[in-house]
Amino acid sequence: MKLQGKKILICISGGIAAYKINFLIRDFIKKGADVQVLMTPSAEKMVSKLTLSTLSKNPVYTEFYSENGTWNNHVDLALSADVILMAPCTANTLAKLVHGMCDNLVLATYMSAKCPVFIAPAMDLEMYQHPSTKQNLELAEDFGHHIIPAEHGELASGLSGQGRMAEPETIAQIIEEFFNATQSLQGKTVLITAGPTYEAIDPVRFIGNHSSGKMGFSLAKEAADRGAKVILISGPSAEKTDNPNILVHRVTSAKEMFTKVFDHFENVDIAIASAAVADYAPKEVASEKIKKNDDSLTIELVKNPDILKTMGEKKSKQFLVGFALETQNEEENAKGKLQKKNLDMIVLNSLRDEGAGFKGTTNKIKIITETTVTEFPLKSKNEVAKDILNFVQAQILK
Ligand code: PMT
Repeated sequence: MKLQGKKILICISGGIAAYKINFLIRDFIKKGADVQVLMTPSAEKMVSKLTLSTLSKNPVYTEFYSENGTWNNHVDLALSADVILMAPCTANTLAKLVHGMCDNLVLATYMSAKCPVFIAPAMDLEMYQHPSTKQNLELAEDFGHHIIPAEHGELASGLSGQGRMAEPETIAQIIEEFFNATQSLQGKTVLITAGPTYEAIDPVRFIGNHSSGKMGFSLAKEAADRGAKVILISGPSAEKTDNPNILVHRVTSAKEMFTKVFDHFENVDIAIASAAVADYAPKEVASEKIKKNDDSLTIELVKNPDILKTMGEKKSKQFLVGFALETQNEEENAKGKLQKKNLDMIVLNSLRDEGAGFKGTTNKIKIITETTVTEFPLKSKNEVAKDILNFVQAQILK
């Protein structure tokens, strides 16, 4: 059983859903997990410490110091956890944790942690919809935390809508799936291209595109979380990672990306091309800034090497995943690329779908293989990365 021996640190904040954590703890304990509970001071009014400590078989801490004067060491609590689950996570605790506030034991422990963090928000309708909550959830997701979205239904206020904490069974399933997926790519090397490429016109200008690199960095993080060694070759992007399993190579142009990819391609098991590579580059790069003397300017463009197509030609053992960014005849064009580039699967995203494609934190994809088309709803790019890697793993294991 995957939860056997896992140390789950549950941090409860002051939402009415706190009572549901009793059921979750019982489930985790039955499955062999070691559960430690921390509470914010306001959570103490919502659920009994005695019940929580009886169910978890561990003392429950709220303060930095216990009544007998012993220090409840937040650093040890944080570093000994395999995962932290913030549930229920109120708007207040969410806001504090994404802005580095640290005025209670839960927040200090969270800030000392290195392990994956799951956040199950719970709050009333308007609070959940408030722009600050949305922004804070996005920030938490940018930190790499896993958000377990609130569910729809009747709320404590009597209103009905989204805001209820996910049911304990849902939370338990997500945590279990996390441990199942963990290390599923152990021993594999995954190469990922990300971001745009910039093709220089002169020392000042370039031809580029709107890719932010978010999709590629999410894929890299997910693959690394599953135990893979990741080689991430990224065009100019503001995205960052300090994950020790991700080796980042920063490049600028398609030609540089091509060279870096083929320094590594031979030895990788899986290659995923999520970069938006410029198809053409200026034939000549002016050595000085081009002056605006004339009414028009013609720049001759020449075709860039097709990195993914070349991977398709050279592939031996590699499982090869392409992306297709389309604006019309989406499926037909994606299927054409799947065949022409000799891919094992292609991820289609269309700029006609709201929230899909460039820049934003969400995407909406279809995964296409020789024989199947699988459609996914709009999700965060971190969740999309999970869907893509689940699909890759299922194909590899076939
Ligand atoms: O970076 P984000 O802001 O998060 O946005 C993500 C994304 C929209 C860039 C990403 O999801 C995506 O769709 N990437 C592929 C974009 C693209 O260039 O698609 P394409 O249909 O033009 O290219 C097809 C495939 O060939 C892609 O895998 C591309 O990486 C690859 N290619 C294209 C041209 C080229 N010269 N070399 C390549 O390797």
